[in-house]
Amino acid sequence: MLVDEPVQFLDDVINGLNQEQKRLPCKYFYDARVSRLFDEICGLPEYYLTRTEQRIMDRHAEEMAAQLDAGVMLIEFGSGSSSKTRVLLDHLHDAVAYVPLDISESHLLKTSADLRLEYPYLEILPVVADFTTRFELPVSQIPPSHAAIYFPGSTVGNLEPDAARDMLGTIANILGHDGGLLIGIDLQKSPEVIEAAYNDRQGITSQFNLNVLHRVNQELHGDFDIDQFRHVAYYNSNQHRVEIYVESLKYQQINIGDFELGLGSGERILTEYSHKYTIDGFAAMAAEAGFSLHRAWTDEDEYFAVLHLVHEP
Ligand code: TRP
Repeated sequence: MLVDEPVQFLDDVINGLNQEQKRLPCKYFYDARVSRLFDEICGLPEYYLTRTEQRIMDRHAEEMAAQLDAGVMLIEFGSGSSSKTRVLLDHLHDAVAYVPLDISESHLLKTSADLRLEYPYLEILPVVADFTTRFELPVSQIPPSHAAIYFPGSTVGNLEPDAARDMLGTIANILGHDGGLLIGIDLQKSPEVIEAAYNDRQGITSQFNLNVLHRVNQELHGDFDIDQFRHVAYYNSNQHRVEIYVESLKYQQINIGDFELGLGSGERILTEYSHKYTIDGFAAMAAEAGFSLHRAWTDEDEYFAVLHLVHEP
C-alpha cells in the first residue's frame, strides 16, 4: 500500500466517519484476505462483470491490439487482473513496453517476474503508483510511438463522477496527443441483475464488505463487533450506482484509538459506490478531457463494454 502512513490513514478514516453520511473507503483495506475474497466474488454466478469482460476480451483482443497499434507503450492500471492482460499481450506483436501500475509493490514484482518469463521480447517496466494521482511514465529502451492505458475491471465505476473526470484529465495529460485508453465499464441494466451481483447467495460480498471493519480493528485499534453489522447493497436508479454500506444492527458506541463513534440502530456507513454507465454517457464524460470514442465492444446482453478512446483534443 502507498497509504501506509498510519497517521494519514487514521486521519482519513476519522474524516470519513465525521461526515454527514459516514464513510469508510474500501480501497484502503486491501490485504491478502480481501484479495482472496475478491477473487471469489469474480467467480460467483451472480457476479456477471468479470466473466462478461473476460469474454469480450477473449473475442475481441485481436482487434483491440490492432487498434492500439505498433510501437505502443501499454500501461495497465491496477494490474492485478492477469488473464485479461495476457489475452491482450498475446496479440500485441510490436509493443515497445508493458507498464503494470499498482499500489501494491509486492504484487507488482511478482506479476512482472511472471510476465518477463512469458513475454521475453517485451520490456516490462513496473511502476508503483496510485492511478488517481499524477505519475511519470518510465523510459523504455526503444522509444514508443505513443502510450496507451488499459484500465479493465470497471474500476472507474468506483470513483464518483467528479473524481472520474479528474482522473480522465490526469491521464489525458500523461498520455499526450494520440494516447489511447482501453477501458472496461459496467453498463446500466435491470436493477435486479445488478443488485444480485452485489448480494450473492453465498454471502462472499458480505464478508468482503464487512472485512473493512475488521481492518479498522486491526490497523487502527478499533473495537467494531462485526456481528453487530450487516452488509447492504442496492441500486440507486437516479444516480445509476450501486451503493454499498455496512449497517449497524443496534445503537452502539465504537472506539477507534481515541476516537469515539456513536451509531444508531439501522445507521449505515458507506463503503463503496459502483457507478454504471451507458457507452454514450461515458464517451461524453471522456470527451470533456479531449478523448474521442474510436470503438466499443460489448457482449450480446450489453451488460459490459470495453471502449477504445483516443486523446485527440
Ligand atoms: N469494482 C468492483 C465493482 O464495483 C468492486 C466490488 C465488487 C465491490 N463487489 C464489491 C466493492 C462489494 C465493495 C463491495 O463491481
